[in-house]
Amino acid sequence: MTLSGLEYPLKSYILKLIIDDVSAMQFHTIWIPVTWYCVAQALTFLLWYSFGWCELRYMPQIKKDIAAKFIEKIGLYDYHFFQEHQSSTISARIKDAAKIMPRIIELSLIQPLHLIITVIISIALLFKVHFIFGLAMFVWVSTFMLMCYTRMKKVSLLAKAEAECEINTYGEVNDYVSNMLFIKIFSSFLHEKSALKNKLEKLMHKSITTASASVSYFRTQHFIFSSYIVLCLIGMVYCSAKSIITPGDFALVFMTNLEITMQLFHITFVIREIITDYSSLRQALSILEYDTGVQDKPNAPTLVVSEGMIQFHNVKFHHKNSIPLFLNKSITILPKQKIGLVGYSGSGKSTFINLILRLYDIMDGGIYIDRQDICQVQQDSLRNAIAVIPQDISLFSRSIMENIRYGRVDATDEEVIDAAKKAYAHDFITQLPKKYDSVVGEKGNALSGGQKQRIAIARAILKNAPILILDEATSHLDSVIESTIQRSIAELMKDKTSIIIAHRLSTLLTVDRIVVFENGNIVEDDTHTNLLEKGGVYKKLWDAQIGGFLPNGES
Ligand SMILES: Nc1ncnc2c1ncn2[C@@H]1O[C@H](COP(=O)(O)OP(=O)(O)OP(=O)(O)O)[C@@H](O)[C@H]1O
Ligand SMILES: [Mg+2]
Repeated sequence: MTLSGLEYPLKSYILKLIIDDVSAMQFHTIWIPVTWYCVAQALTFLLWYSFGWCELRYMPQIKKDIAAKFIEKIGLYDYHFFQEHQSSTISARIKDAAKIMPRIIELSLIQPLHLIITVIISIALLFKVHFIFGLAMFVWVSTFMLMCYTRMKKVSLLAKAEAECEINTYGEVNDYVSNMLFIKIFSSFLHEKSALKNKLEKLMHKSITTASASVSYFRTQHFIFSSYIVLCLIGMVYCSAKSIITPGDFALVFMTNLEITMQLFHITFVIREIITDYSSLRQALSILEYDTGVQDKPNAPTLVVSEGMIQFHNVKFHHKNSIPLFLNKSITILPKQKIGLVGYSGSGKSTFINLILRLYDIMDGGIYIDRQDICQVQQDSLRNAIAVIPQDISLFSRSIMENIRYGRVDATDEEVIDAAKKAYAHDFITQLPKKYDSVVGEKGNALSGGQKQRIAIARAILKNAPILILDEATSHLDSVIESTIQRSIAELMKDKTSIIIAHRLSTLLTVDRIVVFENGNIVEDDTHTNLLEKGGVYKKLWDAQIGGFLPNGES
């Protein structure tokens, strides 16, 4: 493509030869430049054809590779990253990077090289005609470039501020869309609408400021160009009158000046686009700067679960930018033991199980499963050994069949249906218009909370892993379904180490042991009966529960 920088100067030069031959009436030799012109034209066609081919062949590939790299990289981030960033912002940045990067490669490499070649050859040709024309163009191009550089530095700062503002504004738009339910419930549509309008106006003003910085610059450039071309024209007429240059030279100088000027103006737009794109690209690339966090050690072995014993040994942990949660936490969950975790909201129960899943790395101490440090084994093998029904259930916007099969990708349709029956989900699924092929909408929003929970339970039944974790797994179910489903869950827990978090304490009557959390500390650890006899925190919680549920508050 950069070779196309030769196209214009060469063609102009051949045209000059033709004009000189025509004006000298030398028609017997004119076929030579005419043939050269035809050859140049054919080469130009070939060049553009190859460029089109390369663009089609490589650009989509580059876009795909960039998106794939981003997806791979963010897949390595720990869970904090996804709690700190909006999902729409992450996907928008991946899309921006995939779209902008190939364009920047094209704009910043190919186009400037094309211009440099055209300018160098054109200046050489003008020097050949007369040194004054070559010098004039050299001065004009240098001035243009210098002005362009200083002005674009300013535009670059403005474009950066605009890109940041754009990311923020569209983050707010996403918040608006994803919280539409609450906007409706709190009748805050007018408030939200005007807040967003203000944000959009702010963005518009930033765009205008960036654009006006370029526009005033174009006005100055245009004035210089007009003065230059008029002076050139006067010079050319003078030289022609004095027979210093031929009619072909006249055409060559004039055409070259026009072409170079057009290309310089074009490149200014290109540079402005590069600057804007680069600012957006910098924003997109910033998500790659995040600390990768939880990582597999090189050649990490796989976790082998034979009994399912879980041990916390002097574990220290706090969430990012947060106060310490666990200080020297030690606890052993014996093989195949069923243990209930109880405590007020925010006491660290979900964090405790997220640490077993190694969604975050601990600051000190160790977590062991069957005496293997979970930080030393492959994360996939660790998570394959644990079936979890998380507190916040989010389903893929795919069919119910695919969502349940997520528990075990090689499960047959019959196995999926069997798991759904055990989770008491089959009945409601078969009442849906497309049954198991029904798509559940974003995050499973087309289903009720209890239906989502039953899909998650079916998924865990299908996974049938040696360790089972239930974080408020039945909190959205009505009492009738809950009591029936408890039988399936009891069946599922058989021969498995199980950790159950529940605010409805009555669901924990059958567990071997209940551990009571308070502000990240384990304050009690015993059987239900003993804990009641002790008359401590658990007794207080038990007595305070309303309709089987814990009240929401601090002790
Ligand atoms: N990503 C996070 N960043 C910072 N702090 C966090 C994060 N996740 C949880 N926390 C904090 O850690 C503490 C324990 O939270 P956790 O979710 O473990 O509580 P919990 O006992 O499961 O509460 P609940 O019963 O309401 O589910 C809380 O104070 C919470 O605000
Ligand atoms: Mg929780």
